[in-house]
Amino acid sequence: MNKTKVDLNGKAILVTGSPGFIGANLVLRLLKEMTAGTIVSLDNMNDYYDPSLKDYRLGMIEKAASVSSAAHVFVKGSIADKELVDRLFAEYKFDVVVNLAAQAGVRYSIDHPDVYIESNLIGFYNILEACRHSYDNGEKGVEHLVYASSSSVYGGNKKVPFSTDDKVDNPVSLYAATKKSNELLAHSYCKLYDIPATGLRFFTVYGPAGRPDMFYFSATNTLANDGTIKIFNYGDMRRDFTYIDDIVEGVYRVMQGAPEKAKGEDGLPVPPYAIYNIGGGQPENLLDYISTLQEELVRAGVLPSDYDFEGHRQLVGMQAGDVPVTYADAAALEEDYGFTPKIGIREGLRKFAEWYAEYYK
Ligand SMILES: NC(=O)c1ccc[n+]([C@@H]2O[C@H](COP(=O)([O-])OP(=O)(O)OC[C@H]3O[C@@H](n4cnc5c(N)ncnc54)[C@H](O)[C@@H]3O)[C@@H](O)[C@H]2O)c1
Repeated sequence: MNKTKVDLNGKAILVTGSPGFIGANLVLRLLKEMTAGTIVSLDNMNDYYDPSLKDYRLGMIEKAASVSSAAHVFVKGSIADKELVDRLFAEYKFDVVVNLAAQAGVRYSIDHPDVYIESNLIGFYNILEACRHSYDNGEKGVEHLVYASSSSVYGGNKKVPFSTDDKVDNPVSLYAATKKSNELLAHSYCKLYDIPATGLRFFTVYGPAGRPDMFYFSATNTLANDGTIKIFNYGDMRRDFTYIDDIVEGVYRVMQGAPEKAKGEDGLPVPPYAIYNIGGGQPENLLDYISTLQEELVRAGVLPSDYDFEGHRQLVGMQAGDVPVTYADAAALEEDYGFTPKIGIREGLRKFAEWYAEYYK
C-alpha cells in the first residue's frame, strides 16, 4: 500500500497509555529522535497492575525529557473522558496520535468486563471523534492515527502463520472482541472522514519493566517467592514473543508512513486504512521459553544456581479465553516498512532478568 511520509520532528504527538509498558518505551524513543516538538502522554495510571511501575517508567521519561530538545507533557486522565480528550486536541492540535491506552489482558476481562467497554470502546471512540473533528474549519488535523490492536483477534485461528487477510470474526475473549471492534470502528471513520489510520496487532510483548500480569513476569515473581508456577495446556503452547525494542522500532516506523489518501470512482474517499502484525514470525515453544527464562534468572542472580525448578512447576489444562498458538505472518510490515522483529528470546529474557535483579534488589 502507498504511504504518505509523516515527518515527526517538530510535531505535536499524543501517546495514550504512556507510561504504560509499550507507551513509555515509545515515548523514550521519540524523545531521543526528535529535536523539536511536543509529546503528550495521557494515562489514567490505573492499578490493574502495580502502579509504581508506571511511576518508575514516568520517571525515566521525565529524565529523558530533561535532556531532549523535544518537550514532554504528562496528563493524568482517561480517554473515556470525552471532555478531556477534546480539550487536549483543541490545545495541542495533534499531528500524530498513537492510541495505546486500553484495558489489556485476556483473563481479567472475564471478571472485569465493564472497564474493557469503558476504555477500549468508549475511549477509542472518543479518540476517533477527536481525530474526525481535528479537520474542522479547514484545519490540517491529524496526519496519522496509529492504534494498538492485538494478536488475540486471531482467537483459535487454525491456519498459521496468522495473516491480516485471515477472517477474524470469532473472538474467544471480550478483550479480543474490543480490539477487533477498534479495527472496525477505525475503518468506518477512515472511510467517512478520510483519517489515515493504521492498526497494529502486537504479538506477546515482553521486556524490562514490562507488565507483571504477563507470564514471564508473574512466573519470575512466583519463583522468586518460592511459589509454584502453573503452566497451562500442559506446556503445549507456542507464542510469537516480541521484544519491546522490536515493537518500538515497528511503531516508530509505522508512525512515519500513513496510508495514502485517495478518491474512489464514486468520488468518495478510499479508506486510508491499514492493519499490520508486529511479531517475529518465529513462535517459541512455551517450555523452551520457560527454560530460557530460568537460565537467565539464575545467570542474573535472581534465583540460586541449585534452584529446584521441577519442584516449582505444575502442568495444568487450558484456561478460558487463552489460545494455544500465536504466530505472526510479518511479511507485510517488512514489505511496507522494511522491518521484521529480530531480537530472540535469549537476548530479550536476559535483558529482562538483569533489569529484574537490579529493580528488586
Ligand atoms: N503487551 C502486549 O503483549 C500486548 C499485546 C497485544 C496488544 N497490546 C496492546 O498494546 C497496548 C499497550 O499495552 P501495554 O502492554 O503497554 O499495556 P499497559 O497496561 O502497560 O499500558 C496501557 C496503559 O493504558 C492505561 N490506560 C488504561 N485505560 C486507560 C484509559 N481509559 N485512559 C487512559 N489510560 C488508560 C493504563 O494505565 C496503562 O498504563 C494496549 O492497547 C494493549 O491492549 C499489548
